[in-house]
Amino acid sequence: MKITHIRHSCFLVELEGKVLLFDWYKGDLPEVAEGKPWYVFVSHSHEDHYSEIIYTLREKVSKVTYIIDSTVGAAQADDVIIVEPHQKLQVDDLCIRTLLSTDEGVAFDIETEGYRIYHAGDLNLWYWEGEPDADNQWQIDTYQAEIGRLEGGFYDAAFVPLDPRLEKHGADAMEGFLHQVSCGAVFPMHYWRRLDEARAYIDQKRFDPFRDKIHFDDTYVIDAPGRRTRTLFVNACIRGEVMSRSLMLARYFLDECRRWHPEMDVTERHLLTSGIHWLTGEDVDRRTHLLEEGRTDDEMFALAREFARADRIVIAAPFWDYSFPALLKVYIEQICVQGITFVYTETGSRGLSAFKELIYITSCGGYVGQDNEAVSYMRKIAEFLGCGRFRSVCAEGLDIIGNDVQQLMAEKKAVLREIAGDF
Ligand SMILES: Cc1cc2nc3c(=O)[nH]c(=O)nc-3n(C[C@H](O)[C@H](O)[C@H](O)COP(=O)(O)O)c2cc1C
Repeated sequence: MKITHIRHSCFLVELEGKVLLFDWYKGDLPEVAEGKPWYVFVSHSHEDHYSEIIYTLREKVSKVTYIIDSTVGAAQADDVIIVEPHQKLQVDDLCIRTLLSTDEGVAFDIETEGYRIYHAGDLNLWYWEGEPDADNQWQIDTYQAEIGRLEGGFYDAAFVPLDPRLEKHGADAMEGFLHQVSCGAVFPMHYWRRLDEARAYIDQKRFDPFRDKIHFDDTYVIDAPGRRTRTLFVNACIRGEVMSRSLMLARYFLDECRRWHPEMDVTERHLLTSGIHWLTGEDVDRRTHLLEEGRTDDEMFALAREFARADRIVIAAPFWDYSFPALLKVYIEQICVQGITFVYTETGSRGLSAFKELIYITSCGGYVGQDNEAVSYMRKIAEFLGCGRFRSVCAEGLDIIGNDVQQLMAEKKAVLREIAGDF
């Protein structure tokens, strides 16, 4: 992926199979390979982000699609898609999400060809000295909430405002972004013609940990998508592919996730065929002995290591006898290993597992409601082993005579589809 800074907040990103152009309002565009489709993003209507120059591309490139924020008031056309904040949409092979800008319009979060790209538009921390405290506080809260929506993803390239007009607050949005969002390369923008001042912010000590990934270059090449997310699917659905409704929901969820996050690698741990066994007294002794010797690389801990490494975890199991099948408990015995998935400290235990999120998918014959012991237990395990987010989805009432099971399943699929977008 080759990135060219045109000017201000305008960047052109050339990928293997397409060209992305952000907030072009003036400036010369570089030569790119002919025949690629173009996707032109407009974050909002301000004249330093949008002008009608974008429509000249209709005459110049073989195929163009415009993704334009609604504040622009763009004319309807076959090649124009109007967006609002907090939308998710699929355009060809691009998965696009929009955030709410703290000024006007939207920010864009895009996945394509295995890359993930963020363009902030005017989503900035507009903290103006002298403005009412309430307004500035709204800026802080809203900015953090919006950036929080990116948490968990890995961004290969992020275009983030750094505006010297905000004086000592000019780089606060950039700092907040770098602390909260995992990314490979960040490109400051919206600094007008004040490049030296923009660079001076980055020289501040607070940017020490991030300086290597901040680029002011006119052109910059990223050779390959960054970290692929490692998702572990723990399948404890005893009744298998044809019968298990919990498994149907989990498969649906994973398919939706792959649609939103094409870079996601899923490893399935099918507990029925994994050969795991409950811990015997002998196993406990052996385990203690190995851990005393620091041999966490022993084969005995393979499942614990796999769990500890995963970025995302999906666990699916039916609701059985007020919790879940014994096989899942056997798995939990295997993964709770001191020094791998958790550690005891002077102040209590601390999870060592890397997962950003763990989702527990289950289904019940009756109605269990809030007192779902399986969900409470899995939440405790998630809190014990890591500090990622825990969510659960439970389809209920599936065995109650007269219930429309298809309808109940469809409702839960809709919930899962929603979660998949930001999983
Ligand atoms: C061994 C067993 C125990 C069950 N225990 C309960 C229970 O305690 N409460 C309940 O509402 N349903 C119970 N059910 C019904 C299942 O929760 C329900 O059929 C669920 O959808 C099964 O999930 P699956 O289709 O993924 O196998 C039980 C089913 C079995 C086979």
